[in-house]
Amino acid sequence: MSFYDDIMVPRLFEPWARLLLDKMHPESGQAVLDVACGPGTVTRLVAQSVGPSGRVTGCDLSPAMLDLARSKDPIDASAPIEYLKCSADALDVADGSVDLVTCQQGLQFFPNRPLALAEMRRALRPGGKLGIAVWCRIDDCPPFLALANALEEVLGSEVAATYRGGPWGFGDAPALARLANEGGFTDVDVHKYELPVVFEGGPHQLQLTLGAASVATIVAQLSEADQSALSAAVEHASRSITKDGVIRSHAASHILTAVKDR
Ligand SMILES: C[S@@+](CC[C@H](N)C(=O)[O-])C[C@H]1O[C@@H](n2cnc3c(N)ncnc32)[C@H](O)[C@@H]1O
Repeated sequence: MSFYDDIMVPRLFEPWARLLLDKMHPESGQAVLDVACGPGTVTRLVAQSVGPSGRVTGCDLSPAMLDLARSKDPIDASAPIEYLKCSADALDVADGSVDLVTCQQGLQFFPNRPLALAEMRRALRPGGKLGIAVWCRIDDCPPFLALANALEEVLGSEVAATYRGGPWGFGDAPALARLANEGGFTDVDVHKYELPVVFEGGPHQLQLTLGAASVATIVAQLSEADQSALSAAVEHASRSITKDGVIRSHAASHILTAVKDR
């Protein structure tokens, strides 16, 4: 979990959370639900945006993620946050109880996306807003493409496909828009955005992010020789985005915004 929170959150998820909230215009006093909140990345920032008169709920399936979120000190002048363990397709919140629903980099993992969207819509009040971020295809996220290529070289195509298919497995913008339209939302808008990503610790730091990936156990169990081969492959695969030992690149995500009809 620390790989995710220490390496990925400050370099990737927090800047993206700010962009998502920028598109949603949270207002003072609003009630917000953050679905698949993980370690509270969007949850904590939106709690600051809506202020002490607001109300924020973060929910996730993973008790470890929720423990991490709960362990963090609140940001000053924030809304109170309640963290709940529940699945995105069975949200433990009342009908029409929130003004905004956010979901950053969670939807691609949900086994039943239409049901999750229906649950988010149920939780929103009429006129409430939905904001969802889902990574574009891995080709649009070069550091992670480099990791996938290195995994393919050392561990084969099946492991690489598992890696690619997780976070980057739902990069189809029309399919994302269709999901919201068919789920009864209006004003559905999907845009592709790019933000810079820097791994100042270079290929080694990039490789550490595998500790938070679906292939983490496979990578952790590699022999010393295979670990070295993987490090060499990561260095080679990321050479075009590495300068003076620092990786400077970008990642791309779709951001969907939509409204529940009044
Ligand atoms: C990549 S993390 C994103 C976390 C957070 N939104 C952020 O921006 O840091 C994906 C999260 O989705 C959660 N998740 C996966 N499947 C889920 C489901 N069916 N219901 C609720 N949460 C789920 C995971 O536990 C994990 O915390």
